[in-house]
Amino acid sequence: MSNDLDLETLAIRTGIHRSQFNEHSEAMYLTSSFVFDSAAQAAARFSGEEAGNIYARFTNPTVTALEERLAALEGAQTCVATSTGMSAILSCIMGLLSSGDHIIASRSLFGATVNLFNKILTRFGIETTFVSATDVAAWDAAIKPNTKLLFLETPSNPLTEISDINALSIIAKKAGAWLAVDNCFCSPILQRPLELGADIVIHSATKYLDGQGRVLGGAVLGSRDLLMDGGVFGFLRTAGPTLSAFNAWVILKGIETLKIRMDAHSTHAMDIACWLEKQPNVARVYYPGLPSHPQYALAKQQQKTGGGIVSFEVKGGKEAAWKVIDATDLISITANLGDTKSTLTHPASTTHGRISQEARDHAGISDGLLRISAGLESPRDIKNDLAKGL
Ligand SMILES: Cc1ncc(COP(=O)(O)O)c(C=O)c1O
Repeated sequence: MSNDLDLETLAIRTGIHRSQFNEHSEAMYLTSSFVFDSAAQAAARFSGEEAGNIYARFTNPTVTALEERLAALEGAQTCVATSTGMSAILSCIMGLLSSGDHIIASRSLFGATVNLFNKILTRFGIETTFVSATDVAAWDAAIKPNTKLLFLETPSNPLTEISDINALSIIAKKAGAWLAVDNCFCSPILQRPLELGADIVIHSATKYLDGQGRVLGGAVLGSRDLLMDGGVFGFLRTAGPTLSAFNAWVILKGIETLKIRMDAHSTHAMDIACWLEKQPNVARVYYPGLPSHPQYALAKQQQKTGGGIVSFEVKGGKEAAWKVIDATDLISITANLGDTKSTLTHPASTTHGRISQEARDHAGISDGLLRISAGLESPRDIKNDLAKGL
C-alpha cells in the first residue's frame, strides 16, 4: 500500500490481514490462546525468538489490526490497545514511571484521571503537580529534577480549554520528560499530537473511535522505544488491562466512518454553539470553534475544527442547569460522549462529582455548567430540545 494516503483511507484500509478464507470485512478472532506446531515452537514464541501470537492477554490478531489502524492514523510507530481509556492512562504510567517520579498535569482533566493521579498514584510514591492547562510558564515553573511526565487533554473535558502542545513539548524535552496528550476529544482526524511534538497519545476509544456508544476501549500510542522497550506493553502483558477481540472489532469498524462523523459532529457542534451564544439564559459558551473562545487562535492552528463538544453555563446555577436537562426528551441524559446520539451532562454532579469542590472551582467547573456532545441528529431538533428548559 502507498504510504501517501489520506486519513479517511487509512481509517478503512490499514490493519487488514486476511485469513485463508479471504474475507472482505475484518475477521473477529474470539480465542483466548493460540496453538503451536510443537514444543520447540511454543518455547521459541515465549522466549521471543519467533514472532507470533501466544495468548490473548497480550496479543490477538483483531486487536493487532486495531493497533495498526490507530497507529497509522496518529502517525505513531506503535500502539498498545487497552480495555478502557483509564487503563490506557494507567498502563502508560505503570509502564514508564517509578516510585519517586513526578508528573505535571493539567488542572483541566477528566475527573477519573484527576483521582488516579491524586488518590492512587500518590500511594505508590508518584506525585503530581496540577497547573493551568493554558499557562505555559506555569508548566515550566513546575518542573523538578524528578519530573518524568507532562500530561494533558486538549480540548479539555468539559471546558474545552486548549493547551499548546508544541510549546509544552519543548518544555518536556528540555526537562528530559515525556509529554502525553489525551486526544479523546479530537481523535486523529482533527488533531495529531505526535506531529506537534508530543511523545505519547492516549485514547479513550469508548468515545469517537467507537462512535456509537457500544463498547469500552483505550490506546497508548508512541515510539517503539517507549511503548515496547520502555515498558507499556510489558505492563499490559503482565497485568492484563487488555482490550477484548470483540471490542477491538467494534472499534475497528467504528473507525472506518471516523472522518465523516468527526466532520458532521463538528458542523453540528458549531451550529449549536452559535445558537447557544444568542440565548438570554446562557451566561457563557465554551467551544474552541467560536471566536469568543479564549484560545481560538491556538485551536485553529492545532486542530482542524472545534470538535463535537460544547459546554455552556446556564444562568441560575445547578437548579437552572438541571431544569435544562430534565426538560429534554430527545437528547440522552448520560455521561458518555462522542456518540451518534447527542448527550447532555452536568459535570459538577457526574463526571467531575468525585473530585473535591476546591479542584472543581480551580478547574472552573461551576454548578451551572452543562456539557453537550453533539450527535448526528439534526441540529435543529437538538436546539429545539434544549430550548425547552432554557
Ligand atoms: C478525556 C477523557 N479521557 C479519558 C476518559 C476515560 O475513558 P474510559 O471511560 O474509556 O475509561 C474519558 C472518559 O470520559 C475522557 O473523557
